[in-house]
Amino acid sequence: DSGVGGFTVLRKVIELCPNNSFIYLADTARLPYGVKTTHEIVNIAEEISSWFGCQNIDAFLVACNTTNAIALDVIKKNLDVPVFDLIGSAASTVQESRVGVIATPSTVKSKAYTSAILEFKPKTYVIEQSCPEFVPMIEMDNIYSNEIIDIAIRYLQPLLRQRIESLILGCSHYPLITPLLDKVLPTNVKLIDP
Ligand code: DGL
Repeated sequence: DSGVGGFTVLRKVIELCPNNSFIYLADTARLPYGVKTTHEIVNIAEEISSWFGCQNIDAFLVACNTTNAIALDVIKKNLDVPVFDLIGSAASTVQESRVGVIATPSTVKSKAYTSAILEFKPKTYVIEQSCPEFVPMIEMDNIYSNEIIDIAIRYLQPLLRQRIESLILGCSHYPLITPLLDKVLPTNVKLIDP
């Protein structure tokens, strides 16, 4: 991933596979990914997956939704080990008929979540909201301010107006602000953390 976000994914994988070893790459030099062009993200994905290709790994997990949305095929082509699809597996768990997705601008633009959800549940109503201000604030640990609460309300309002029943955290940084989102969301909206 681009920074601290991937640790939310890594933590869960370690819980599931405590006896495996992991290499985690946090590309803080090029953070944030979520506002980069497709071309830039594909180049980064090619470079990083080529490096992992030399690390004697048995499997590869893209902990970054933005990279997964835009460059999963490039990574799969580059590596000869299984590559897990974070977005596809999150989409397969959706039960509700009206689903909101919050993610980076590049992920939202790709519509990867909408396509993946509709593949599993074609009648689902999916609404995606891009949240460009979250990642820089989370990386700076600015997650307890009134400012971020106001921003969260602004991002979530359009989704709540559409009466969503669940909300997918479509960026691995967002589980780090779950307490804040819980405060802003009505209790009947279920949070889905891929
Ligand atoms: N955490 C990443 C994601 O899941 C990217 C965040 C960023 O660098 O913008 O999309």
